[in-house]
Amino acid sequence: MYTSGNIPKGAFLLPLTLFLIVPLLPLLRNFMQPSPNTDASSNLETKETKKCNIFSGNWVPYPQQPYYSNQTCPFILDQLNCIKNGRPDRDFLKLRWKPHDCELPLFDATQFLELVRGKSIAFVGDSMGRNQLESLLCLINTVARPEDITAKHTSYDDIFFRWWFVADYNFTVTTLWSPFLVKFNDSDPSGRAYYSATKLYLDEADEAWSSKIKNFDYVVFSTGQWFFRPLTFYERGQVVGCQKCQNSTELNFYGYKKAFQTAFRTLRNVEGFKGVAFLVSHSPEHFENGAWNEGGSCNRTKPFSLEERGVYESGDIVKALHEIQVEEFNAARENGLRFGLIDVTDAMAMRADGHPSRFKPGNKNVNDCVHWCLPGAVDTWNEFLLYLMKLEGQKHNNML
Ligand SMILES: *[C@@H]1O[C@H](CO)[C@@H](O)[C@H](O)[C@H]1NC(C)=O
Ligand SMILES: *[C@@H]1O[C@H](CO)[C@@H](O)[C@H](O)[C@H]1NC(C)=O
Ligand SMILES: *[C@@H]1O[C@H](CO)[C@@H](O)[C@H](O)[C@H]1NC(C)=O
Ligand SMILES: *[C@@H]1O[C@H](CO)[C@@H](O)[C@H](O)[C@H]1NC(C)=O
Ligand SMILES: *[C@@H]1O[C@H](CO)[C@@H](O)[C@H](O)[C@H]1NC(C)=O
Repeated sequence: MYTSGNIPKGAFLLPLTLFLIVPLLPLLRNFMQPSPNTDASSNLETKETKKCNIFSGNWVPYPQQPYYSNQTCPFILDQLNCIKNGRPDRDFLKLRWKPHDCELPLFDATQFLELVRGKSIAFVGDSMGRNQLESLLCLINTVARPEDITAKHTSYDDIFFRWWFVADYNFTVTTLWSPFLVKFNDSDPSGRAYYSATKLYLDEADEAWSSKIKNFDYVVFSTGQWFFRPLTFYERGQVVGCQKCQNSTELNFYGYKKAFQTAFRTLRNVEGFKGVAFLVSHSPEHFENGAWNEGGSCNRTKPFSLEERGVYESGDIVKALHEIQVEEFNAARENGLRFGLIDVTDAMAMRADGHPSRFKPGNKNVNDCVHWCLPGAVDTWNEFLLYLMKLEGQKHNNML
């Protein structure tokens, strides 16, 4: 059990650093490098990939223009269009992620599109997946125009359910909205009210994705924020626990762990699924001086330094969520999924400056310190994605 707000700031700093780096090493070896007894290893041992944890690094100055702007990319949701919404500072756009031991290549849109020619990607999860998809559309748009083909797939007209097609590359990308990955029933029919109590069926995957995923070549899981709500957990039709229930404000991560377990087990058992899966690890929020609904804000214009990262109010929760994700990811890999971890947690924990904050539409008293401005830090997620797709492709081909 974890409660927010009662952990001394700073106590988390060292454990976070150790925690994020140490457990990653074995899984990076597995995913990113061929086993030593294949003679293909020379192919992969370029200076970019050799024994490098791309997720361990720092944000460094990068004075060049970002990949795109609110003028050149027509796909940026208003909610994420910080510049259009009047954000005055620009330093947050002049940074790049620099792994300690190598370079993370820039996103090469042509290379990406060649890799996904004739293929499809589904982003499964909540609005963080949607955030990454928006970034990807803007990155792709620099070389080929994505076309909205949502109407061909669903009559449900919603910004959270969209399909896109890049005709020149016969490439399809979609978001499958599934904020818990498992089946849920929200007492609010629109499903978006923060306080409404939600029933989570922890042993049943959400058909919103599980029934549609079979033919996708890549699936990117990304979710987390919805697990902070009042929840009642069900297994085999029985209540097995709850969170923020009966006057309690405590988080209960049992549901979070089970949801990932069920999702990954389901994916493994989807008949005919031959794709590669990725898990985007937890993306931290950065409310200061109050929670999101208590006037909390995120006005920073510089990222936290390596020394400062983790020194923010939700740090211990972020650590706990990340630990659960890595455990379940490792278990799923051992059980035979082609699965890569896009471990953004450490990098994004530093980017308190990257959120829309008050430069968003709607109620100005509620800041958005959860999502990420576009362009911005979230573009790095797609640099990670392309990097891992290339490695996975090389490794897979070598194994044939
Ligand atoms: C882009 O942002 C600027 C403010 O910096 C605004 O004046 C302009 O209308 C925006 N353009 C688009 C296409 O959103
Ligand atoms: C486009 O890709 C799909 C698979 O996503 C494939 O079935 C189809 O044959 C491809 N079409 C063309 C014209 O290559
Ligand atoms: C959700 O729960 C309500 C009662 O709480 C019920 O009427 C409804 O049928 C349920 N919806 C689904 C999809 O299970
Ligand atoms: C919740 O708190 C209210 C007011 O403090 C109290 O009357 C009620 O009995 C509590 N409910 C439970 C289930 O503890
Ligand atoms: C952030 O800016 C808002 C609006 O200017 C202000 O009310 C708030 O106190 C600021 N928060 C911090 C942490 O500086």
